[in-house]
Amino acid sequence: MLDWSDTSSAPKTPTFIPIPQSSTDATGLGTIDRSGGRVSVDEKRMINCRADVNQLLPLKYKWAWEKYLAGCNNHWMPTEVSMQADMALWKSRDGLTEDERRAIKRNLGFFAASESLVANNIVLAIYRHLTNPECRQYLLRQSFEEAVHTHTFQYIVESLGLDEGELFNMYREVPSITEKAAWALKHTQHLDDPDFKTGTPETDQAFMRDLVAFYVIFEGMWFYTGFAQILSLGRRNKMVGIAEQYQYILRDESIHLNFGIDVINQIKIENPHLWTKAFQEEIRDMIRTAAELEAAYGRDTMPRGFLGLNAALCETYMHFIANRRCAQIGLAPVFVETENPFPWMSEAMDLKKEKNFFETRVIEYQNGGALNWE
Ligand SMILES: [Fe+2]
Ligand SMILES: [Fe+2]
Repeated sequence: MLDWSDTSSAPKTPTFIPIPQSSTDATGLGTIDRSGGRVSVDEKRMINCRADVNQLLPLKYKWAWEKYLAGCNNHWMPTEVSMQADMALWKSRDGLTEDERRAIKRNLGFFAASESLVANNIVLAIYRHLTNPECRQYLLRQSFEEAVHTHTFQYIVESLGLDEGELFNMYREVPSITEKAAWALKHTQHLDDPDFKTGTPETDQAFMRDLVAFYVIFEGMWFYTGFAQILSLGRRNKMVGIAEQYQYILRDESIHLNFGIDVINQIKIENPHLWTKAFQEEIRDMIRTAAELEAAYGRDTMPRGFLGLNAALCETYMHFIANRRCAQIGLAPVFVETENPFPWMSEAMDLKKEKNFFETRVIEYQNGGALNWE
């Protein structure tokens, strides 16, 4: 079983090697260096590169390459999932309560724009500053997967005949969704400045803040409560097509999240001067604030709750997940220790186990069918 919670494959570099302020080209688009010296593995760095970023081999960060391969093995398309049952249920007069419809629409509206926000962050902010070819190879795969996820929401809107303007504008028009998007965007906006360059402790920390905001919080916390909401309905045999698509997205996102965690931890190893006590507290504050934004969104989305799901349970789940994410990047927990209110979420990752449950077509994959969702 592949277990992305295990970051032990990440190479350990115990001593800090100061990075010379050389003229090494960080973009890969600079003038070709004809002077001859070949890339050695030891020269490769996550940020502020010292080696040619156009040379994938020799590999230094094997965990990045392994995630690229796992992503390729998990290939899927939303149109492979039948929406017949969802269409019938959505059109029926009493198959869904008004509360369930509201929660589903808000959930779809949140994800519809969020997949684009995440994709834009990878392509326009992260890629430029992550100066390692094997990590960039993974980012290219992840970018495609985010496109597949955005396609999923187009397919759902089309299948159910939803109001596309309403759904794709929710991130601008529903305040509890806008708050989350705006909070994350301020971190990527900082990096999108054409004059922004890593290489100083301040800018390197700004880059790490963006990694935390998008990988740990957006994809690793907010998406998880979103998955729990839809999969909870799926467990009650409601919107099973969307639930199946969310299972595939969840499996992709668990790799995205764990790639981000490996990146953050590797940058910490190579640049221990960035991971100060004050900076750790700042990151813990970010995670705490993000959990509060999610709780507000939960109350707005599920004001009365429904069978198996309500805002209070989602808030408890967010606290559980927030503490888990803190542990994964070496931080003390931000909330009181709590039980996971949705223990079935770990099984939702195992698509082979679930295929009879949803009674829909599941594609057999070579790999990653039993990923550890945490
Ligand atoms: Fe995604
Ligand atoms: Fe993602």
